[in-house]
Amino acid sequence: MGKQAVTVIGLGPMGRAMVTAFLAEGHPVTVWNRTASKAGELVAQGAVTASSVEEALAANELVVLSLTDYDAMYAILEPAAHALAGRVLVNLSSDTPDRARAAAAWAAGHGAEHLTGGVQVPPPLIGKPGSATFYSGPREVFDAHRETLEVLTGTDFRGTDPGLAAMYYQALMTIFWTSMLSYLQTLALAGAHGVTAAEMLPYASRAMTMMPHFLETYAPHIDAARYPGDVDRLAMGAASVQHVLHTNRDAGLDTALPAAVDGIFRRGMDRGFAENSFSSLVEVLKQPAG
Ligand SMILES: NC(=O)c1ccc[n+]([C@@H]2O[C@H](COP(=O)([O-])OP(=O)(O)OC[C@H]3O[C@@H](n4cnc5c(N)ncnc54)[C@H](OP(=O)(O)O)[C@@H]3O)[C@@H](O)[C@H]2O)c1
Repeated sequence: MGKQAVTVIGLGPMGRAMVTAFLAEGHPVTVWNRTASKAGELVAQGAVTASSVEEALAANELVVLSLTDYDAMYAILEPAAHALAGRVLVNLSSDTPDRARAAAAWAAGHGAEHLTGGVQVPPPLIGKPGSATFYSGPREVFDAHRETLEVLTGTDFRGTDPGLAAMYYQALMTIFWTSMLSYLQTLALAGAHGVTAAEMLPYASRAMTMMPHFLETYAPHIDAARYPGDVDRLAMGAASVQHVLHTNRDAGLDTALPAAVDGIFRRGMDRGFAENSFSSLVEVLKQPAG
């Protein structure tokens, strides 16, 4: 039997990598993109361009969406909603859990299934071993298309709530963006002292690789809402964060990031957590800032 045919809508760097991976595994692929010229290279590889969104939807049951956000999905699919019945939308676009739930209901209202996905690797790792994507939505729909989706990445089904894959994705993107921004702050500070990114690389990498140790230590404490200050006290952390803030300020840098960190520590101190561990700040983060 031939490989399952797929429609891919959205040809940014991620969508293009996905089309290439499907074609490499022998899946017939129909593509559509707002900016049609982005399909050029993919057509040379064997993809078929649909001349309209309706045609792209009509071509295949399985429709992969790789768009900037869900607004882009509505902008593309609302005018073609009459062509959605019977389609399986695998939405690998980033957005919030609430918007994923709303999209699943919207798709159902048009007779389509919706699987939410959160891709955890950049485009060069699509189709490579070790990559993974979170999925959530109807289990039987996921199971029916799992083999084809595993052409792109490994799959990790998180549950039937359509918001779950988006929640896992955004939770981990919270780590990604804040830690990568802290890396850029580190490089700006090093650069202000004449130290290059290349020189900092082994030290920054070592700091990152120590993180799982802290995660493992804190996870059971956070689940138990116990924050023993036997190894680290929040008061010590608050002083350390001030040193970080002042070092960045003295170097003439933008201090918005260290100042935000300092603000959170101060709120923990104000809540009386000085003798608890740093992990007690999770209690501060559970509520909106006053
Ligand atoms: N790139 C990564 O490293 C990476 C990693 C993991 C997950 N992701 C997620 O994967 C998704 C796709 O990533 P990407 O890097 O390919 O994103 P991207 O560069 O933002 O690609 C955007 C795609 O969305 C389309 N689009 C955006 N707004 C639109 C609108 N209003 N109407 C119609 N089409 C619209 C673009 O069409 P045009 O070509 O016409 O502009 C393009 O096809 C994103 O949700 C991203 O968060 C990306």
